[in-house]
Amino acid sequence: MSEPDLKPLIVIGGGGHASVLIDILRVQKREILAVICPDDLSQRSVFNGILHLSKDEDVLNYPPDSVRLVNGIGVLPRSNVKKKLNQYYLSLGYQFETVISEQAWISNEAVIETGAQVFAGAIIQTGAKISAHTIINSKALIEHDSVIGKYNHVAPNATICGQVETSENVYVGASSTLIQNIKLDKNVVVGAGAVVTKNVLEGRTCYPYRTKTQCNGIGKRQE
Ligand SMILES: CC(C)(COP(=O)(O)OP(=O)(O)OC[C@H]1O[C@@H](n2cnc3c(N)ncnc32)[C@H](O)[C@@H]1OP(=O)(O)O)[C@@H](O)C(=O)NCCC(=O)NCCS
Repeated sequence: MSEPDLKPLIVIGGGGHASVLIDILRVQKREILAVICPDDLSQRSVFNGILHLSKDEDVLNYPPDSVRLVNGIGVLPRSNVKKKLNQYYLSLGYQFETVISEQAWISNEAVIETGAQVFAGAIIQTGAKISAHTIINSKALIEHDSVIGKYNHVAPNATICGQVETSENVYVGASSTLIQNIKLDKNVVVGAGAVVTKNVLEGRTCYPYRTKTQCNGIGKRQE
């Protein structure tokens, strides 16, 4: 049984990211009314027993005040799909549920804004803030006082050291490291395995260390 004050959920998306979210929500015994996805869901057992609807418009059959939405669409570098979808449903009065795995560790002094998703093994330290609709993926570490902007994706095993600031729509790749006290402007992409040691300007991509020097945020692969 769900807690009486928790609204039933509709999950948008039926791929790998959605499957992880549903796994978390099932452990928490949340009521999931439907999964919205145009594709077949039979390959993943975690979807078994949940009503499968195929069109985004199917959400509109549920009044905004009767449900909460969970955006289960995985976020790739520079993808705007999740943000556009969220903005559309928010404009209609829907709200997005914040989903936090029981296996994440979050300081009592950290702030997690609405619609954020925090997966198993993630650690979020004191004074950190995770802004709305941001994904903190499995085993990511957000150190003290770091402020992660809206619609970021911090991929598995990324390490964000203390007092880092990221703007909106930043993608922090798997197993990358951001050293302390740096700022990443909006739409920055940090490649998987990159080490970022300086501020990064809007829209730039940081590639991992290759031969001579480490990525310095100027947006070119270093040879
Ligand atoms: C950096 C990134 C955004 C791709 O950038 P891109 O400019 O589009 O790069 P491409 O895919 O065209 O690859 C170009 C070359 O760089 C290499 N490359 C790209 N990203 C790399 C990375 N993170 N580490 C090592 N090499 C990488 C590719 O293998 C390719 O090498 P080649 O020229 O020898 O064939 C992407 O590869 C990346 O790292 N994404 C993050 C993935 C991730 O964290 N996923 C988590 C999912 S939950």
